[in-house]
Amino acid sequence: MASRQSNADAHPKRVLVTGGAGFIGSHLLDLIVTPDAEITVVDNLSTGRIENIAHHLPGVRFIEQALDDALRTLQEERPFDQIYHLAAAVGVDLILEDPIGSIETNVEQTSALLKYASTHGNPPTLIASSSEVYGKPGASVFSEENDILLGPTTTGRWSYAHCKAIDEHLALAYTQTRSLPTVICRFFNTVGPRQSGRYGMVLPRFVQAALKNDPIQVFGDGRQTRCFCDVRDVVAVLPKLLKNQDAHGRVFNIGTDHSIEIRVLAETVINELASESTISLVPYSDAYPEGFEDLRHRRPDLSRVQELTGFTPTITLEQTIADIASSSLHAKTPSKENA
Ligand SMILES: NC(=O)c1ccc[n+]([C@@H]2O[C@H](COP(=O)([O-])OP(=O)(O)OC[C@H]3O[C@@H](n4cnc5c(N)ncnc54)[C@H](O)[C@@H]3O)[C@@H](O)[C@H]2O)c1
Repeated sequence: MASRQSNADAHPKRVLVTGGAGFIGSHLLDLIVTPDAEITVVDNLSTGRIENIAHHLPGVRFIEQALDDALRTLQEERPFDQIYHLAAAVGVDLILEDPIGSIETNVEQTSALLKYASTHGNPPTLIASSSEVYGKPGASVFSEENDILLGPTTTGRWSYAHCKAIDEHLALAYTQTRSLPTVICRFFNTVGPRQSGRYGMVLPRFVQAALKNDPIQVFGDGRQTRCFCDVRDVVAVLPKLLKNQDAHGRVFNIGTDHSIEIRVLAETVINELASESTISLVPYSDAYPEGFEDLRHRRPDLSRVQELTGFTPTITLEQTIADIASSSLHAKTPSKENA
């Protein structure tokens, strides 16, 4: 499909990245930082780390502030040409530990960002959403137009999915009623160097345990499947979507459709890192509060993003595991997990 581009889309000069010191945001910076781009990162470092982006400073402007506060200052400035909105409260453990803070962050910050964008030049704006939005439908392959089936509001885990679904509705409403060009990306499990294991992310947790030869804790029976896509593959498609007008006002699954059982993932980590770790199965009832619901299978239908951009992930899981391990071993500063 041919894409129509404005000058600002083709040569974005001023770019705002919210949550840019986080895992996905920092890899996006590695891709989009060029000598002639003026990039501003807003991040309150709640889960992000300055070490993730230190190699881009001071060329990239870094504002350490909550997004809504930073937007009040930014409204005095020239509008941005593009916005990537990645700031959010992320990770099952964080959502369960701080439900009010997480819900407020995930709804109010996105609302503030969309309001700002629509009143400051209407730049193409990418909104990070999640495969969690699908909830627990009967199908194991998730397509963007599928019905969603979320669990009850009495189960705290689902608040993240509800918030991201509201973010999507709000972004689409801004496109429909205020002509703000938004692109919604539903990330499936994204993995790679710099991801923190502190808030329940599975692969960094497994790699850390394997490097210490500690038992790897696999929740449930380990037969649940997920699709893990390297973050460097994921970020590569984001600028392509944002500059393509045919992507505006639409939702895209982003990830890989290669499934793996979590137990096999643990075995792969052990083999790749020549670790002496054993696998220990932990019942969900011991790992999470009562009533926690997990999903057996989750795999994206990628035909929409492939059709528009030719998106094909290229980095193998084995390579990702090796890179996570090597970046953990070479980290100069203690990570939050060790702090
Ligand atoms: N990593 C995944 O597998 C995955 C999957 C689905 C969706 N996502 C989405 O992708 C986006 C990026 O996730 P990530 O994995 O990089 O997580 P992350 O926690 O590393 O990044 C989020 C960043 O947002 C910042 N932040 C949080 N609240 C903020 C606020 N109020 N103001 C300013 N900054 C704030 C954090 O400090 C952090 O740097 C999020 O929107 C997340 O919901 C990620």
